[in-house]
Amino acid sequence: MSEMQNISIIGAGLMGHGIAQVFAQNGYPVTLMDLNEEFLANAAKNIRANLTLMAENGIGSYKDIDSVISRIKFTMEMSEAVSEADFVVEAVSEKLDLKQNIFQQLDSLCRRETILATNTSVISITEIASKSKYRDRIIGTHFWNPPYLIPLVEVIRGKDTPDETMEKTFSLLQSVGKHPVRVNKDVPGFVANRLQHALWREAISIVEKGIADAATVDECVKYGFGLRLPVLAPMENADMVGTDLTLAIHDYILKHLESSPEPSPLLRKLVEERSLGFKSGKGFQEWPENKADESRKRLQKYLMGVIKEGVKT
Ligand SMILES: NC(=O)c1ccc[n+]([C@@H]2O[C@H](COP(=O)([O-])OP(=O)(O)OC[C@H]3O[C@@H](n4cnc5c(N)ncnc54)[C@H](O)[C@@H]3O)[C@@H](O)[C@H]2O)c1
Repeated sequence: MSEMQNISIIGAGLMGHGIAQVFAQNGYPVTLMDLNEEFLANAAKNIRANLTLMAENGIGSYKDIDSVISRIKFTMEMSEAVSEADFVVEAVSEKLDLKQNIFQQLDSLCRRETILATNTSVISITEIASKSKYRDRIIGTHFWNPPYLIPLVEVIRGKDTPDETMEKTFSLLQSVGKHPVRVNKDVPGFVANRLQHALWREAISIVEKGIADAATVDECVKYGFGLRLPVLAPMENADMVGTDLTLAIHDYILKHLESSPEPSPLLRKLVEERSLGFKSGKGFQEWPENKADESRKRLQKYLMGVIKEGVKT
């Protein structure tokens, strides 16, 4: 276990409840804070459902579920949530002023040595910290959804984050079985979302230009290079085929790839006509409820298989 013991999570939504679960599963006392009782009750229900599904799939056991949940204290009081905390993860809605306000409150509510992390998806850590008194203890920890199944956490250094805060955060995340990585510059999208959305921009552009339909684009990933990605990612792959071949391919193809700095007009049109994907039953493709549900279940089952077998590197 890390020298940091008491963990607090602010915001008990989709990410917050899952992050609380990760620490509680690994023996840490956790306090989970949100604004109203109903959200907290839902968080407790969701954690139980996640742990049950995992036990059904051979990850953890049914008999430990109650003790994992008993390690989590649920509260609506910010001061109660953080006064004893060694490490706080902010996982409230993705709004800059809300996050800045919470970090300002934490200035006076936490002990000086407490490390304060934000789970923002894209907002600059430096900007979130800009209104706080002690900026050297503020850091980004970008967990991926669902946090109890995806190992990666991007640990992002803000302009004022020193090595010590980076290293302590890194060790804590390793102690709960996560795979932390260091992001040395606080840039929009950090590392993994930049990669992911470079691919999505090209995928949407291919559909928009009529080169292939949406299902075909996904087939090209699922039955092709996507199969290699878990064991052979881009930088290793570029070296495997050779930097000379990579240069020759880029020399020819880069000018043909999508490079628009704006979201695609097709994407805007879908949103305008409320074709919102799984939420509305139609997006780039048709999603009747049973098909959307199958997709969600397939992902959970696949991720649990990966966790059971261990990530291959
Ligand atoms: N959803 C994802 O896939 C994902 C992935 C990685 C990171 N993130 C980031 O994680 C953060 C949380 O996202 P989410 O998807 O869990 O959002 P969510 O809407 O599910 O949950 C946000 C929670 O914050 C609570 N909240 C709002 N203001 C609060 C306050 N002042 N004090 C305490 N709680 C407050 C809300 O009641 C809500 O329960 C965001 O910054 C988001 O960008 C999301």
